[in-house]
Amino acid sequence: MAETFFIDASDKAAAYQELGRVYGSVIDGEDNEIARLATLVCLLKTTFGARFFWCGFYLCDPNKEDELVIGPYQGTMGCLRIPFGKGVCGKAAREAKTQIVDDVHAFADHIACDANSNSEIVVPIFKNGKLFGVLDIDSTEFSAFDNDDRIGLEALCAQVF
Ligand code: SME
Repeated sequence: MAETFFIDASDKAAAYQELGRVYGSVIDGEDNEIARLATLVCLLKTTFGARFFWCGFYLCDPNKEDELVIGPYQGTMGCLRIPFGKGVCGKAAREAKTQIVDDVHAFADHIACDANSNSEIVVPIFKNGKLFGVLDIDSTEFSAFDNDDRIGLEALCAQVF
């Protein structure tokens, strides 16, 4: 059963901790992948909506090697597919490593799905030790993401499966 929640986003580190608690309780007993992914996107966007202009998953396509396909997201329309190695998402997938980009316009390979995005963080997500996809978050602010976001988002992504 869903619970109502309000998380104060002004203390980021504390907010991520509380998000982990709420997320764990909401998805407890739910084994559907989309339900687990979509719920995390909802909690993040609801909590950090002012800073998170676009928030969602790109998932490894089981039918196409080294290609990501759009998953659950909230925001303006995202591009549907991203090859591994292309853009910030493709780099995170290829390297299986979180990427923080302070100014997407200075990132040579950036894929501009929406011209309003100015900075971005992309966090890989794993299932049974294998790359499952990436969590992509864009902000209209420059330099919106830091190490607190990396730690908080990596911990939340580790809770999904
Ligand atoms: N900017 C991303 C593409 C996805 S959109 O931001 C939703 C990238 O360069 O990988």
